[in-house]
Amino acid sequence: MVQQTPVRPLGAPGGGALIDEDWEALRFRVHRSAYREPELFQQEIDRIWNHTWLYLGHETELPRPGDFKTRTLGGRPLIFCRDSDGEVRAFFNSCTHRGTVLCRHSEGNTKFFQCFYHAWAFSNSGELAALPGDDAYPDDPGFRASMALRQVPRLQIHEGFVFVAFDPDVPDLLTHLGAAAHYMSLTAKIGPHGLTTLPGVQLYSVKGNWKLAVENAMDGYHFAPTHNTFVGYLRETGFAVTDDDQYAYDLGGGHGLLVLTGHNGRIGMVWEPRFGDEEKARTTAKRQEMESRLGTELAGEIADASRILFVFPNLLLFDLEALTIRQLEPVAADRTDVRAWQFVEVGEPESVRALRIKTMVSFVGPGGLATPDDIEAYEAVQRGIVATANPADPAHDWSDMSRGMANEKQGNQGRSIDEGAMRSFWRHWASVVGVPTSVAGAPPTVPSATGPSRPKGE
Ligand code: FES
Ligand SMILES: [Fe+2]
Repeated sequence: MVQQTPVRPLGAPGGGALIDEDWEALRFRVHRSAYREPELFQQEIDRIWNHTWLYLGHETELPRPGDFKTRTLGGRPLIFCRDSDGEVRAFFNSCTHRGTVLCRHSEGNTKFFQCFYHAWAFSNSGELAALPGDDAYPDDPGFRASMALRQVPRLQIHEGFVFVAFDPDVPDLLTHLGAAAHYMSLTAKIGPHGLTTLPGVQLYSVKGNWKLAVENAMDGYHFAPTHNTFVGYLRETGFAVTDDDQYAYDLGGGHGLLVLTGHNGRIGMVWEPRFGDEEKARTTAKRQEMESRLGTELAGEIADASRILFVFPNLLLFDLEALTIRQLEPVAADRTDVRAWQFVEVGEPESVRALRIKTMVSFVGPGGLATPDDIEAYEAVQRGIVATANPADPAHDWSDMSRGMANEKQGNQGRSIDEGAMRSFWRHWASVVGVPTSVAGAPPTVPSATGPSRPKGE
């Protein structure tokens, strides 16, 4: 078991609650120190990143034996690779001799990783293959075996999504994923021949706390005002965007889901005029293909609504517009690295592939009509909350997330334009990180779903 640091009473100034939830007053607010404090950030790394399944990458990023990527999770440099026998592996990217970062390339293909410092070399399945001057070491196979590259203790794969955990005692991946596993499977079923990531990654660094990125993805409320340029563009092309009949779901375990019916079109699933007539005919044929392969009900569940899935703590799956996988890596309390991959159907025509990429970059790409707005929004939050950090006036250092509580209290399913998905994320976060909370009354336990696509397993 990875050692846990003891829970310290980190909270608002004076040790007060960081989350204030009151179902009589219909109030839910988060103390802004939760986004700011370096000590709390370190506690998140200790208690979340060191003890939870983390999304590492997709197995299609490593199509050939010997392929590797280097990646950092929870601050730990890792090697994500496919060994010469085809097995997907994750190693700590640290030479077992004296700890040097072993592989200093971001990606490539190799049979061996050689350390530049004293030239020890490791096979892509982790064995110590060569060390210069080995006559100065014990003539004992046990010595070499003890110097094998250290594997990350746990690695499991669901629908090609590769997760790792630094704590060997975490429950199985499917237990961790819970209801979220179903939504990953829905996306994976889109293509008759499966899905694959495209080569290349969009990597950008945001001057904001990682939880602001989660909030932003689970926040349908900001869509129309923040992305009004994009909404205007869609209207001009003849597509009416609506917030009606769109819902937010608490999937448990900190995972969240937005199901969006009127958001905008989606390649191969929901046609809109900007996709062109050729894509219109293909969308109709695609629906028939899915219905015959999967049945009418499942095909409808996959095709009829866009989805944004958050898998606690670091994976976002955008099954909207096109398909995008996004990974969050917290760097500091006020800094987050983001990686994003385009996810496509295996075997789709080149023209569709081109349309998909164009659609993706025009919206959720780092230069698109949505993502720069979102980044500016959460960087602006990070800048703004410095203004209210004032122990002499603590009453104004809170962020409000109460939208939709009155609706939920009446037993209605939360809407995507409310803030229920954020509330469930923050509740789980507080329980894992072990910070003080103040709760008055109980949240409604079984809301009646009126949405088109009620999550399984509720
Ligand atoms: S630290 Fe890697 S070979 Fe010495
Ligand atoms: Fe947005």
